[in-house]
Amino acid sequence: MDYSEFNGSISDSELAPLLSFSSESYLRQLKHGDFPRWRKHLESIPTIAASNCDFGDVVSMGSVSETDDKTREGIRGLLLEMTPWRKGPFDVFGIQIDPEWRSNLKWNRLQNNISSLRGKKVLDVGCGNGYYGFRMLEQDPELVVGIDPHLAYVAQFWALKRFAADLPLHVLPCALEQISEPLQCFELFFPRGVIYHRRSPIDHLLRCKHCLVREVNWF
Ligand SMILES: C[S@@+](CC[C@H](N)C(=O)[O-])C[C@H]1O[C@@H](n2cnc3c(N)ncnc32)[C@H](O)[C@@H]1O
Repeated sequence: MDYSEFNGSISDSELAPLLSFSSESYLRQLKHGDFPRWRKHLESIPTIAASNCDFGDVVSMGSVSETDDKTREGIRGLLLEMTPWRKGPFDVFGIQIDPEWRSNLKWNRLQNNISSLRGKKVLDVGCGNGYYGFRMLEQDPELVVGIDPHLAYVAQFWALKRFAADLPLHVLPCALEQISEPLQCFELFFPRGVIYHRRSPIDHLLRCKHCLVREVNWF
């Protein structure tokens, strides 16, 4: 995954502590057994910039006409190797990724009950493969940063990002408690599905709070 643009954009900002999780040396030392294989695998996925993205129920990148059959079959095989896809659905150049869970149903229940994300910086704690982060882009936030320590999900995000490199959405392979300095930068955070896994939910929430500036909205 090429974080160089992200790293350049945050190096002089309150987000600079996140550089610890997007540097090549950090990525190289990640120890999940399959991770080196995934990284190699990702390099074989072509970097084709999708002309259009849609962040509706099915997060879509590009259309069938932008790739030939052979390229599409190649991409399909590479994405299939990253199974299981728990969050979704996605559509990549007409290749449908049918996930285990219909994450769109959850997002639809939520989206009318949150304040506008327009122009905001958003932290998605436990973001999985970034499905909800993509959905957030529908509302035109300034930046969405997702964090998740589960490398298989992060690798799925990296695969998708190869087709839409310029989006203001980034996923870092780390857990919330690894962020040791208060970022005081995000205007909104989503800690869904994580709090009840933590031994100390209150400490988890306090860590989230340290990432926030101004208003506090929890979802
Ligand atoms: C139950 S899933 C919820 C995913 C998504 N947020 C949702 O609402 O559907 C929990 C996710 O949080 C991640 N996670 C677990 N512990 C975490 C931590 N300490 N910091 C950040 N993410 C964590 C897991 O890897 C997993 O992807």
